[in-house]
Amino acid sequence: MSSAVLEARDLSLTVERLNPTIGAEIGGVDLTQPLTAQLRDTLRGLLLKHKVLFFRDQDITRDQQVAFALNFGELYAHPTGGVETHRVVQPIAAENFKKYVANGESHWHTDTSWRIDPSFGAVLRAVTIPEVGGDTIWADGAAIYRGLPEDLKARIDDLYVIHDYQDALRRSGVNYPLVAHPIVRTHPETGEDIFWINFGLKPRIVDLDKAESDALLARLYEEVKRPEYHARFRWRKNSVAFWDNRAGLHFAVRDYGDFPRVMERVLIASDDIPHRVRPSA
Ligand code: SIN
Repeated sequence: MSSAVLEARDLSLTVERLNPTIGAEIGGVDLTQPLTAQLRDTLRGLLLKHKVLFFRDQDITRDQQVAFALNFGELYAHPTGGVETHRVVQPIAAENFKKYVANGESHWHTDTSWRIDPSFGAVLRAVTIPEVGGDTIWADGAAIYRGLPEDLKARIDDLYVIHDYQDALRRSGVNYPLVAHPIVRTHPETGEDIFWINFGLKPRIVDLDKAESDALLARLYEEVKRPEYHARFRWRKNSVAFWDNRAGLHFAVRDYGDFPRVMERVLIASDDIPHRVRPSA
């Protein structure tokens, strides 16, 4: 049993897994209160182990969401903007989908992967959610990679893929170079090999011609869709999710028609990010 789980017991936390390798609902935490150092370290350990943590019945304010996120690093203000009161609280609103994502479609993605130093993680709070629908699914990037046939692993091991967010960045007045990351990234803390493609940012595999790249991406997409790699979370009022963005992909299910679903997300910067913003900024 891992030390994170032993500590969870010491702190009277409950840990209910959603899938053998990804996702756990954590009980016994009150996110309206500051975390002790021991609780913070335990949650960080649980995050590394389960990749995404869920908390129910957390009636928290934006300030408390920001304070919780700050336990795990400095925050990153997304260039598409924040809510009126907090630059670092990014609204994820159904009405904006067409503005920032081609066709407004949902995709398996990672956050800020268009950056050289993508965010460490995120804290997402449900604000206005449909009675049913609007779930979010997280996919375990390590399990996806482990599950690939050996020949496919060997084929992608040294390949890079482009993460192209240039159109939305230009619309937001941001000039940032086009970035490619390895398809398989080593997680900086767990050492796991993580399958990491953002299918929402016009992926194109470097050094392959378009047809070859498209065919390989389509083959890999089949693997990402396998349900055994997924943790699917049904949102309720006052639910909060906290994920490790370096550990896999996620997907917002848009099955709620015109319902004006709104979530608020706080991004935690990577450790060496140059554009850090304090919550008061
Ligand atoms: C996100 O993709 O970061 C947000 C997911 C969601 O809206 O469910």
